Amino acid sequence: MPKSSPILGSMRFGEWGARLSPVAVADLLEAALDAGIDTLDLADIYGGHSTNALVGAAFAVRPGLRARLKLIAKIGIVMAGSPGNARGVQHYDLSVEHLRRALDDSLSALGVDRVDTLMLHRFDPLLRPDAIAAWIRDEQRAGRVGDFGVSNFDAHAIALFDGRLPVSANQIELSLANAGAIDDGTLNATRARGAEVQAWSPLGGGDLLDPHSAVGGRVHARLQAMAGEFGLDPASLLLRWVASVPDTRVVLGSTKIERLREGARVCAEPLPRDAWYALWEAARGRPVP
Ligand SMILES: NC(=O)c1ccc[n+]([C@@H]2O[C@H](COP(=O)([O-])OP(=O)(O)OC[C@H]3O[C@@H](n4cnc5c(N)ncnc54)[C@H](OP(=O)(O)O)[C@@H]3O)[C@@H](O)[C@H]2O)c1
Repeated sequence: MPKSSPILGSMRFGEWGARLSPVAVADLLEAALDAGIDTLDLADIYGGHSTNALVGAAFAVRPGLRARLKLIAKIGIVMAGSPGNARGVQHYDLSVEHLRRALDDSLSALGVDRVDTLMLHRFDPLLRPDAIAAWIRDEQRAGRVGDFGVSNFDAHAIALFDGRLPVSANQIELSLANAGAIDDGTLNATRARGAEVQAWSPLGGGDLLDPHSAVGGRVHARLQAMAGEFGLDPASLLLRWVASVPDTRVVLGSTKIERLREGARVCAEPLPRDAWYALWEAARGRPVP
């Protein structure tokens, strides 16, 4: 599988989106694999703590499916309504105690004994990198965790693991709707560590395709014109814009098989540099200096 092939996101599979059945999830995963997408992004909170179990049910109805997929499991967010959250305050908990329990729950909901990447979902100012590194190494030795990754970590946060534990990936918001990671050093800090950039919400959650949204309005005319020029639909051009950034894989959010196939196809080729800048200029509202 080429390194640039997209990742499939599960956030909208269940209660937070398409409310797919286990069989429909299994069909989607199989179609994604056939299209060259072999990595599935998961998080314990998706669907209000229900989507991992939905994916586990899909694995149960389609034997052999799990073995063909690489799983990314994100943990560390406690939502206001998460089980056991006594005060009902939305927060992040990267204590080893919470992480161990969240990994246990994720493996059990998915019905698997290992995830390929375990990712800290959000930066927690109260985190202790030494304790996390020691625990991750224990889990790696026990065979429950493959690589270690982070998500939404800025350049300073990712540096906390320097010399402690290799970071395989940083999953960040990156699209024409939010390209802050380019300017604030997050992208460079991730690449400088040899880690993969995983770009979530590559279509701005759909906003970029809506000419009535602020950013959708800014990019609309140029997006339409350039989509025609490249023979792509606007969504495909937006995905190719993100996938053109070196060391970056797009996390696709669609639950439609045809859109996943098209996403895999268009991410395989980068945009010419001037076309990439033309779209960035439209989103920024001004040329680069
Ligand atoms: N690490 C984090 O903090 C974090 C945060 C958010 C998300 N994520 C991950 O990133 C993944 C992707 O995020 P996202 O879902 O926000 O991605 P996105 O690609 O920006 O948005 C997906 C939405 O756009 C719609 N869409 C896709 N193609 C379209 C088209 N051609 N025309 C019109 N609408 C279209 C989809 O609807 P259809 O289903 O109908 O195609 C879906 O509602 C998530 O599943 C999750 O795994 C991670």
